[in-house]
Amino acid sequence: MVRSSAGKIGICVIGSGRAGMIHARNFARRVERGQLVALVDAHRETLAAAQKELEIERGYPDYHDALADPRVDAVVVVTPTALHREVVLAAAKAGKHVLCEKPMAMDTQECDDMIAGCRAAGVKLQIGFMRRYDQSFMAARDRIESGEIGDAVLIKSLTHGPSVPQEWMYDIRKSNGPLAEVNSHDIDTLRWFAGSEISEVYALGGNFRCPQAVEPYPDFYDNVAMVCRFADGKQGFIDGAVSVGYGYDARAEVLGTKGVLFVGRREQDSVLGCSTDRGMTQPFVKSWRTLFTEAYGAEDQDFVDCIREDRDPRVRGIDGRMAVAVVNAGNRSIAERAPVSVKA
Ligand SMILES: NC(=O)c1ccc[n+]([C@@H]2O[C@H](COP(=O)([O-])OP(=O)(O)OC[C@H]3O[C@@H](n4cnc5c(N)ncnc54)[C@H](O)[C@@H]3O)[C@@H](O)[C@H]2O)c1
Repeated sequence: MVRSSAGKIGICVIGSGRAGMIHARNFARRVERGQLVALVDAHRETLAAAQKELEIERGYPDYHDALADPRVDAVVVVTPTALHREVVLAAAKAGKHVLCEKPMAMDTQECDDMIAGCRAAGVKLQIGFMRRYDQSFMAARDRIESGEIGDAVLIKSLTHGPSVPQEWMYDIRKSNGPLAEVNSHDIDTLRWFAGSEISEVYALGGNFRCPQAVEPYPDFYDNVAMVCRFADGKQGFIDGAVSVGYGYDARAEVLGTKGVLFVGRREQDSVLGCSTDRGMTQPFVKSWRTLFTEAYGAEDQDFVDCIREDRDPRVRGIDGRMAVAVVNAGNRSIAERAPVSVKA
């Protein structure tokens, strides 16, 4: 049900941090038929800065107050992952449509609760796998479907993040680690490109670049290599890393029976320089914010269009849930040093 009086879907972003502000800027400036009407952040200075930048009058430190605001038709949940279940269930109960950032939640039970809560309330539940809106990833998926490379056999996907993790990520029990925060996207890409579910994983983790975490958080890994078996026999591989420093690296490779596809770019822009001092140079992509700008915009636009047209989101709760199942299996595999079946 669309209630916004101005004829636009009223959006509230809950969690005005790094990813939240990407969505907030989109809904404030570029999404059609949707409008940012409120912001939430528990940290008052963060909230005030976001409100000031986007000139949004309604700012709520407590998300429950935003959910009681009749101008809010839909919410984007961009709080830390451990809060996703609580916020999504409250939003659904208040009749608000939901775009929830990845990782959907901490475990599959939480995902099931969120799916059931949104279904019972009759609200949309979309998950923030924006690579599904990226032109290159979409083109690759179309070319796999067309049969150009025969049958896809091995799907590899990597994400390396440049920054040193925030402290909370070091505790794997609280964060589910880089497999969740970084490689959820790769897991979703593997499932999407394969058209099959991941049935078994074997993952290795190690900490090579974060010496500050070694003693207090011995389980923390800043590097992960995960081999995947699909239900239909295909093979997969995920390469994840944080704190790499050199840039933001997100690429995939699909090997088929008749060819191969390489997806994603490394270059920040198309300027290639050559100097006597430094030789040939071209800056590496710096951030996910710039690499996927268009994809986030298309994702946010589609959220509004799904609500208006009353259709299912392209990325649904079940997609978020399956990625969480693989994250949990991967972390178990690292801890047990053994292959682990994915509990569907
Ligand atoms: N799709 C993507 O590419 C992408 C990229 C980055 C982050 N994320 C996801 O987005 C989520 C947030 O990550 P981030 O990097 O933006 O984190 P962040 O720490 O920058 O932002 C989170 C914000 O939530 C606020 N917050 C915490 N508790 C709250 C509460 N109870 N109520 C309201 N606000 C609260 C914090 O004050 C903070 O400003 C995570 O789930 C993360 O995995 C997705």
